[in-house]
This record gives sequence, C-alpha cells and structure tokens, in this order.
Amino acid sequence: MIQRTHILGVGKAVPERVVTNDDLSRRMDTSDQWIQQRTGIRERHHIGSDCGASDLGRQAAEEALAEAGLGIADIDAIIFATLSPDIDWPASACLLAAKLGARAMPAFDVRNQCSGFLYSLASADALIRVGRARHVLVVGGEIHSTGIDITTRGREVAVIFGDGAGAVVLGPSPDGQCGLLSCHLHAEGKYAEKLWLEAASSRRRPRITVGDLGGDDPAAYPRMSGRYVFKHAVTRFPEVIQEALAANGCTPPDLDVLIPHQANLRINQFVAAALEIEESKVVNNIDRYGNTTAASIPIALYEARRDGRVKEGQLVCMAAFGAGFTWAAALFRW
Ligand code: ACO
Repeated sequence: MIQRTHILGVGKAVPERVVTNDDLSRRMDTSDQWIQQRTGIRERHHIGSDCGASDLGRQAAEEALAEAGLGIADIDAIIFATLSPDIDWPASACLLAAKLGARAMPAFDVRNQCSGFLYSLASADALIRVGRARHVLVVGGEIHSTGIDITTRGREVAVIFGDGAGAVVLGPSPDGQCGLLSCHLHAEGKYAEKLWLEAASSRRRPRITVGDLGGDDPAAYPRMSGRYVFKHAVTRFPEVIQEALAANGCTPPDLDVLIPHQANLRINQFVAAALEIEESKVVNNIDRYGNTTAASIPIALYEARRDGRVKEGQLVCMAAFGAGFTWAAALFRW
C-alpha cells in the first residue's frame, strides 16, 4: 500500500500595511476601476520596514508547525519557494532554518515563481516517499514591494504584486490513504523573456549598474508581456488540471475545491468556465492580497481550511502558471 504524503499544518503571514488601489493611483497614472476590472484586486499588503521573505516565512512556518503539533526538531528538510529571496545567496531556506533554530538538515530554495510552491510540494513529497524525510516544511514567501517600479512606467506589474507568505508542514498521511495523489510539473523556457527580471545578473558586467541603483534601467524591474502571459495561462491551467484529474481517474465534476494561483481573477474565471467548474468551488482571494506569487496557493489554502471550504474527504486541486513559463498542478484527497 502506498504511504501518501499529506498537509498536516498550514500557516500564513502578511504585513500589516494595506495598500489600496487608491493609494497606488496617488503615485502613478492608474485607477481603482482599471485595476479592479482587469485583475480583481482591491488591495495588497506591503512591508513597512526592513523585512525579508524569510521573516514573513518564519511567521507562517511557526503557525504551520503549531497546527501540525510539531516543533522544528521534528522537521527533516526545509524548502523555500521564492522569486524574492532575502539576499541573492545563500538560500532563504538556510536563513529561515537559522531563524527557526533548526538542526543541520537539507534546506534549499526553489526559484520557480508562481509555480514555486507546487514544485516545492512535489520535491517534499519525493523526499518523504523515498524515506529521506518524515516531515518537511515548505514555505512560499515573497517581498515584491521593494522590487517593483511604483510609477506610471511600472504600473502594469506594480499594481498586481503583493507581499506575503504561506507555509505547510508535510508528513505521512494519518490514515495512509488521504493526502497528495499526484503532482504534475511543466516548464517551457523559450518564453522566459515574456515575464522576467534581468538585473542583477551574472551575464552582465557589472552585475549591478548605476542605472539599476537609480531605478532608471528597466532591467532592474520585472517586465511582463501581460496579454501574452494571460493567453498562455488560460490554456495551460485547464490542461494541467485535466492532466492531474485524468491521472487519478477523475474528471472536472469530481472536483470539490480548486485552489488556483492568484495572478488575475479573470484568469481564474476563464479556467472555471473552461472546465465547467462552479465558481463557488474556486478559492479566490486576490482582491485582498494581489499576486503573492509562491505564497498565493498556501495563503489561499490557509483561508479555505479556516472558513471550512476544504474538508475531509474532498477532492482538492491546486494549480499554478507563471514566469518561465512554468505551470503545475497537485491533486489531493483531503
Ligand atoms: N493602470 C492603468 N492602465 C494600465 C495599467 C494600470 N496599472 N497597466 C497597463 N495599463 C494600460 C496599458 O498601457 C494599455 O494602454 P494602451 O491601450 O493605451 O496601450 C491598457 O492599459 C491595456 O493594457 P493591457 O496590457 O492590454 O491590459 P490587460 O487587459 O491585458 O491587463 C494585466 C493587464 C492585468 C497585466 C493582464 O494582462 C494579466 O493579468 N496578465 C497575466 C499576468 C499573469 O498571469 N502573470 C503570471 C504570474 S506573475 C509571475 O509568474 C511572477
């Protein structure tokens, strides 16, 4: 009999400071109406003082550990999903391990943007299944607010991102049967330049220029071909969700809850319509957090469990699409 991996605890952390669309429209040429209509976002959280992704990650991790009834001494590996690590290197996972007081253990970052949490989940599941770890802490954490261009020039990207972290503790499923059924990971690097951040980069001399520091070089900020990304997202999301369902002998009507990455409410509405999934089964909270990238799925999971939408026995799918391009899905029997 296969011993399945399950999520034993979930935690969430967002900075206190709320930034509304009206706050942004005082700093750039945009409007609450434009942002809400195009993305579904009303507000997001930005850090107020020096705080790294691993600091938010720590708060989320402590909550996830408490819910799992475990301490850091029970954890055998830490995986940190982020595109905004505290520093370029070493990994935020190492910084987090130190902050949590972890003993020596595997700790590594997964730099796969919006799909990073699901890539991390798959990695944790592999460690558990081969017996290299019993409990793995997986954290998705992002500080976007210090790396975006909050002017009219950067408005397409700046309005969508928010700061936040979510964490899960993975371990053997209590009954051996419920838990993670399968993960499905994909990447197509030929689209890398459609959504990327070039600086600082090892292929440039010097890696960081005066332009980067002054904020004048567009390479210093994330750049996105928004419509292009949107079109790929609405194709790849349904594909990978169908792939996960089919791999387990299921079809969309079998799904009880869909937890998609939160990049744009319209994308999630397209996906629900394409798969004929009732919108009430789709967890959306982008209105309050914006796109928190690697943190969006664990934050949405946290809220869906707290408000009773994710319950025992349900078929739950998590899915993501983002920079890379990368996309992924994970199917759970809760
Ligand atoms: N406020 C006001 N106007 C704006 C803003 C803004 N914040 N941003 C862009 N505009 C303008 C544009 O300049 C353009 O003006 P023009 O018609 O005069 O040229 C107009 O609004 C329309 O711009 P579009 O880019 O066509 O707007 P669209 O409807 O595509 O919405 C958006 C843009 C929200 C970014 C959308 O394309 C999108 O969500 N794309 C997918 C994002 C995504 O999924 N990212 C992946 C995850 S992120 C990650 O992986 C790191």
